[in-house]
Amino acid sequence: MKFPKIGIVGAGAISKDHIDGYTKAGATVIAICDPLKAARDIRVKDYNITHSFDSIDELLKIKEIDAVSICSPNSLHAEHTVKALQAGKHVMTEKPMALNVEQAEKMVKAAKKYGKILMCGHNQRFTPVNQKVDEMRANGEFGHVYHAKCAWIRKRGIPGLGGWFTTKALSGGGPLIDIGIHVIDRTWHMMGKPRPVSVSGATYSVFGKNINKYVCKDMWAGPRNPKGKMDVEDFASAFIRFEDGQTMTAEVSWAANRSDEDSWSLIMGEKLGALVKGNSLTLYGERGNSISTDQIDFDPSPYKNRHGHFVDCLVNKVKCTCPGEDGLTMQKLLNAIYKSSEKKMEIKL
Ligand SMILES: NC(=O)c1ccc[n+]([C@@H]2O[C@H](COP(=O)([O-])OP(=O)(O)OC[C@H]3O[C@@H](n4cnc5c(N)ncnc54)[C@H](O)[C@@H]3O)[C@@H](O)[C@H]2O)c1
Repeated sequence: MKFPKIGIVGAGAISKDHIDGYTKAGATVIAICDPLKAARDIRVKDYNITHSFDSIDELLKIKEIDAVSICSPNSLHAEHTVKALQAGKHVMTEKPMALNVEQAEKMVKAAKKYGKILMCGHNQRFTPVNQKVDEMRANGEFGHVYHAKCAWIRKRGIPGLGGWFTTKALSGGGPLIDIGIHVIDRTWHMMGKPRPVSVSGATYSVFGKNINKYVCKDMWAGPRNPKGKMDVEDFASAFIRFEDGQTMTAEVSWAANRSDEDSWSLIMGEKLGALVKGNSLTLYGERGNSISTDQIDFDPSPYKNRHGHFVDCLVNKVKCTCPGEDGLTMQKLLNAIYKSSEKKMEIKL
């Protein structure tokens, strides 16, 4: 396969990132589906996409499609992924890969059964800065990484209040599932993907419970739907233990009475610590008998983003670095945080 042909499932906000990403990586998006004609029409017009359907079943009938991106709401990821794998397509699925562990396990099994690649599109792992940290860790520059910490805090940033984001049956959860997965997965990756063994977590729902009274300046994925649901958390905090004693703490919120914090990840190694914030990388350590803090600059151009990597897997048979199995581990972690909060105790994985 030289220039893969791609189908996009779901023509909402994130589909643009996928179409742009594939185009940059040398693949061609030839089909898109969405029950909302108006949504898919925008993408068809902007990107000259050949085929447009209202259902995935029609899209999967196109033989020349090599792979699909699943950009539908969370509740449909499992169903859409399994259908696509069954139809002989490779799949990149948006995060979270599923609503629960059972669904995620089915997806991983289907990829094995049909011999296709299932990649989780955890984009924050594929930033140059994150790949740089990955290289440095693999070269032993941090020494043993024993603790990590991460956060993504929005002061008032509940998306689409009353819509699918805030309806548990459709989203699987609140900020933990929506933005927490990004920072927790990225930090876990920076640590070298140790095996999690137990989780203690707490989730809270304080803001947005009364949909009409929620105070905000603007609303991404809005406007609010006063007749809709808000049955997910708006803040979560967690403490995770890993196999060899490593630990991680995480805090994420859609709404909280504290300042906004753009997503950041910190790993603490015996030789060196690293803080990733946006595209910046800061290293904390010692130089001789002095204590050092260094801002690192490097050439980001050799690093591929998620679509570049997926196309590399398809064309050059490169091993997928963000397989369904990693999404399954994340799903287990997130679900354990919810369970721990509910049972008010540590959960063993
Ligand atoms: N990686 C990231 O940074 C990132 C950012 C935003 C969203 N996402 C993920 O992408 C997914 C979509 O989010 P979004 O922001 O684009 O949401 P969105 O609501 O803008 O778009 C979802 C689209 O899916 C369509 N859809 C509904 N049922 C469908 C079906 N049966 N078949 C095909 N399409 C269907 C909807 O009509 C809508 O157009 C979510 O899983 C979300 O978590 C990821």
